[in-house]
Amino acid sequence: MSTLGIIVAMREELDVVLARLQDTRTHQRAGMTFHCGNYLGKPVVAVVCGVGKVNAATCTQLLISEFSVNRLINIGIAGGLGPGIVPGDIVIADTLVQHDMDLQALGLPPGQLFRLDTFDFPADPALFQLALDAARHIQNHQVHVGRIVTGDQFIACQQKTQWLTQTFGALACEMESAAIAQVCYLNALPFVCIRSISDNANQGAHMDFDTFLPIAVNNASALLHAMVPAC
Ligand code: ADE
Repeated sequence: MSTLGIIVAMREELDVVLARLQDTRTHQRAGMTFHCGNYLGKPVVAVVCGVGKVNAATCTQLLISEFSVNRLINIGIAGGLGPGIVPGDIVIADTLVQHDMDLQALGLPPGQLFRLDTFDFPADPALFQLALDAARHIQNHQVHVGRIVTGDQFIACQQKTQWLTQTFGALACEMESAAIAQVCYLNALPFVCIRSISDNANQGAHMDFDTFLPIAVNNASALLHAMVPAC
């Protein structure tokens, strides 16, 4: 039986999914609640991992090792980078990088992990295509495709957003997805990340975040909802 994992960082991001989950059973592991059930007729395990890379990595490995998911979708919110990306927009990641991985003192470029055979983590082509197809259902907001960068920092500073754009060519920043992508890469598990923009990662980010959180959550969930039947 093939099971889809749905991983989010915050409870607000899972509520819409849980409202549609049927025949639900819950299991506790590492302080996280794993919701097993059927979403639009598909076997799914949905979970809030918490904020940050360690939570995300722990949760992803549990989904794979203990709940036998064989593909994984991460949805949620992100800070937008660059002038063309505004709150409410969606970014589908084609590649993911950990922006706070820094071994420059050893001669590696920013973001490069030590002795790993890749710089970035690409989305699974099939899941990525399904996300693009589902994006046609999003009408009031733009859908962008590009790199998402991850670090254990809430970005709220223009200097930092410029650095992320220039160094990584990133469209959005958040705090989990490249860690999830790394664990999926190590387990050869298909993965895609869909984020909706809650703020522009600049000085006013915390205020935009509060205002746009519900809108962004709805947009990312709408795309997931359109995508799951084909998964
Ligand atoms: N998630 C949503 N907005 C963010 C930001 N500005 N920085 C990091 N993660 C985020």
